[in-house]
Amino acid sequence: MILVTGAAGNVGSHLVTQLLDAGEKVRAVTRTPGNRSFPEQVEVVPGDLTHRDTLAEALDGLERAFLFPVSTGLDAFLEAARLSDLQHVVLLSSSTVTGRPAFTYAQWAAHRAAAFGGRR
Ligand SMILES: NC(=O)c1ccc[n+]([C@@H]2O[C@H](COP(=O)([O-])OP(=O)(O)OC[C@H]3O[C@@H](n4cnc5c(N)ncnc54)[C@H](OP(=O)(O)O)[C@@H]3O)[C@@H](O)[C@H]2O)c1
Repeated sequence: MILVTGAAGNVGSHLVTQLLDAGEKVRAVTRTPGNRSFPEQVEVVPGDLTHRDTLAEALDGLERAFLFPVSTGLDAFLEAARLSDLQHVVLLSSSTVTGRPAFTYAQWAAHRAAAFGGRR
């Protein structure tokens, strides 16, 4: 099973569909489970990426995650992840990181990637 954060968003919703089509099981985390609609195969759990203590259920028992780059920072998720079994995180970044590295957004995206030691 793969944890998908930002699963209701522009990127995450397509990722959920593609993972299900590929035969993967998906757990989606959202701040408002009652207000979000996901495919019925998706396990939906509450959680806020900016509040570490809300993420234990989302991370429970999982080794892989797709990480939405919440604009206020990744620290809370990373702190929770370090207490979990998570092994593999894919961070949604931006092609500007390599294509326009002097661009302010690219620098921000690169900084976020560096925050968890990930590859671009
Ligand atoms: N759109 C693109 O093509 C694209 C490409 C590259 C990079 N990006 C970057 O990705 C980000 C936007 O992606 P997007 O367009 O897919 O976003 P979006 O459509 O705005 O979707 C937002 C998603 O993030 C979740 N989310 C936001 N804050 C959260 C929080 N604190 N805790 C838990 N979930 C939270 C929302 O979940 P709930 O509201 O259900 O909690 C929702 O599923 C930006 O940083 C952008 O620069 C986007």
